[in-house]
Amino acid sequence: MTRDLSPIAAGMENTLIKICLINGDGVGREVVPAAAEVLAALGLGLEFAEAHAGFEYFKRSGEAIPDATLADVEGCRVALFGATSSPSTRVDGYRSPILALRQAFDLYANLRPVQSLPGKFSRPNLDLLIVRENTEGLYAGRERLDGDTAIAERVITRRGSTRIVTTAFDQARRRTAYNAGAGHTCTAPPRSVQCRCQQAVTVVHKANVLKVTDGLFRECALEVARDYPEIPLKEILVDAMAMRLVRDPESFDVIVTTNLFGDILSDEASALIGGLGVAPSANIGERVAVFEPVHGSAPDIAGQGLANPIGAILSAALLLDHIGQAAQAARVQQAVHATVKQGVLTQDLGGRAVTKEVTRAVIKNL
Ligand code: IPM
Ligand code: MN
Repeated sequence: MTRDLSPIAAGMENTLIKICLINGDGVGREVVPAAAEVLAALGLGLEFAEAHAGFEYFKRSGEAIPDATLADVEGCRVALFGATSSPSTRVDGYRSPILALRQAFDLYANLRPVQSLPGKFSRPNLDLLIVRENTEGLYAGRERLDGDTAIAERVITRRGSTRIVTTAFDQARRRTAYNAGAGHTCTAPPRSVQCRCQQAVTVVHKANVLKVTDGLFRECALEVARDYPEIPLKEILVDAMAMRLVRDPESFDVIVTTNLFGDILSDEASALIGGLGVAPSANIGERVAVFEPVHGSAPDIAGQGLANPIGAILSAALLLDHIGQAAQAARVQQAVHATVKQGVLTQDLGGRAVTKEVTRAVIKNL
């Protein structure tokens, strides 16, 4: 069974789809081409446009992400992004391309699903969705030095909080609709991967300390929840959530939180299903959406053909879902599952396969 069309992508079903490919740096150059190969193999007549961004490109051109790339993303409306290497210290003129994309297109919703894979490296029965606010919080870019004091401003707005919590509830509703109703009404075992009957949105914050900023975020969550009476809202402090994600991740469904908390919790959650190599994500705005594996450019293994392409391939599946191709998205997901079951695994998952072998196996399993 496939999920219904993402409301955000409505209207894209009948347009000719061109996907902007931004490899970026390091393993981004290996995993994006792998995911594009899988997309091409579906036989949907998808077109591709390659665009530049990243630190390597910056060293050549003086720009981290050129206007031409922004124009391509805007034209295509959907992009697959690999990873870029951002130095930890300030380099004049360099800004993280993914942060630039999120700001330029107001990609306010970062959806990070965490779903079990059929391998020993993954916990069973997990199907979480982390909904991360993607444009404000501590990522607002308001940092300054005042003598020997460094200050970062954490920006939380009513508009930003309301729209991200609304996204979380809409996603929960979509999952509920897909699973036909509240309460345990389906035939799958409760809390199994197949069963998503017991829906809830969990808002994660630190309002006991950040009384003003997270106080507002929490207040907006409670307000939005009133419009979704059939979906319970749970709340939990972020430190407790970090513990609960390890102890009993099965008791959560949709998790919504602010930018930096979502960044940290999504890396943590990926460890439950095999690590960063398998985690996909979607950055969604009103008009444009950018899909990227959660992992970074991994300079330690870059250029050797060893990177795990699954995070990028599952991100491509999220892209398909977004453009109204839910059945094709499910097809890609099940091909990844079949590949994992066959034991065609890269080294991060305890196997010996290289990027190309995993990609070939996924295509064969389509
Ligand atoms: C992510 C990454 C980015 C972030 C970096 C590359 C700026 O870690 O997508 O999670 O912090 O959001
Ligand atoms: Mn991150």
